[in-house]
Amino acid sequence: MKLSSLIQQSAEQLSLAQVAFGHGTTNAADEAAWLVLWALSLALDTDVSDDAFNVHLTSAQVATAQSLIAQRISSRKPAAYLTQEAWLQGVSFYIDERAIVPRSLIAEVLAEGSIDPWLDPSTTRVLDLCTGNGSLGILAALAYPNITVLGLDLSKDALAVAQINIERHGLAGRMTLAESDGLAKADGVFDLILCNPPYVNAKNMSELPAEFKCEPALALAGGSDGMDFVRSLLQDVATQLSPQGVLVLEIGNERPYFEAAFPLLEVVWLETSAGEDQVCLITHAALTP
Ligand SMILES: C[S@@+](CC[C@H](N)C(=O)[O-])C[C@H]1O[C@@H](n2cnc3c(N)ncnc32)[C@H](O)[C@@H]1O
Repeated sequence: MKLSSLIQQSAEQLSLAQVAFGHGTTNAADEAAWLVLWALSLALDTDVSDDAFNVHLTSAQVATAQSLIAQRISSRKPAAYLTQEAWLQGVSFYIDERAIVPRSLIAEVLAEGSIDPWLDPSTTRVLDLCTGNGSLGILAALAYPNITVLGLDLSKDALAVAQINIERHGLAGRMTLAESDGLAKADGVFDLILCNPPYVNAKNMSELPAEFKCEPALALAGGSDGMDFVRSLLQDVATQLSPQGVLVLEIGNERPYFEAAFPLLEVVWLETSAGEDQVCLITHAALTP
């Protein structure tokens, strides 16, 4: 069987099985390509027009890839948990079930520099609140060579995964971690706070596809309107921001709940591939009217 046929057949199997996407891919073709290429130890960015796609695979190779596709279907685990690798803005991160699969849109605004106009040139201290596997703090450290990052999370398990990623990216001298409920262990003030908190409302939590239920509920559930964590954060965060500091906050599809909870708060909505209402930027001034 040719590699291209195997990927096509795998995509059909994933579609038929109605697996859910959203952990690095959005469709069966991309998910099949990812899993098959990974199973065969081929580069994930192999071009589909590349000759590699026309090669005939051995029966052992076909069996290896088919076994991974079968595992994806029967376990409903996100592909990233099966491969223990997730990609965000072209950067690879270790991941396992102890932490949510990284997919934050804040990674896009860091990569595109869309928050740069709001950052003070002397920005040095950055807080990655709810750090999970550490990906946002690490991307910030890679984007801004002069910063140091503190990553906080309530989950010891997630912090263990974050530590693996800090070491993988050689950032142990610039990013540290602490177990913290919200801002409790956020010492001092920060020039930039990144936060992708748990924000899924109770109704949406009860309707999540099986793939999302493989992730720690602590990483997703935000209470009845999704705003439990955000509400306490916005009450306290101003004291942890320098006067020129900004908070970059992801709220996903929960903008109506966010605006209902904070009707008077002035925020700047940042453009992302998912639209202009998923990530916002809040200045220190807006938090201390
Ligand atoms: C949506 S995940 C984001 C993880 C990571 N920043 C990312 O973008 O992939 C939310 C994270 O918040 C953490 N968390 C939940 N409640 C928390 C709390 N009260 N204080 C600190 N972290 C909390 C969870 O353990 C989880 O790692």
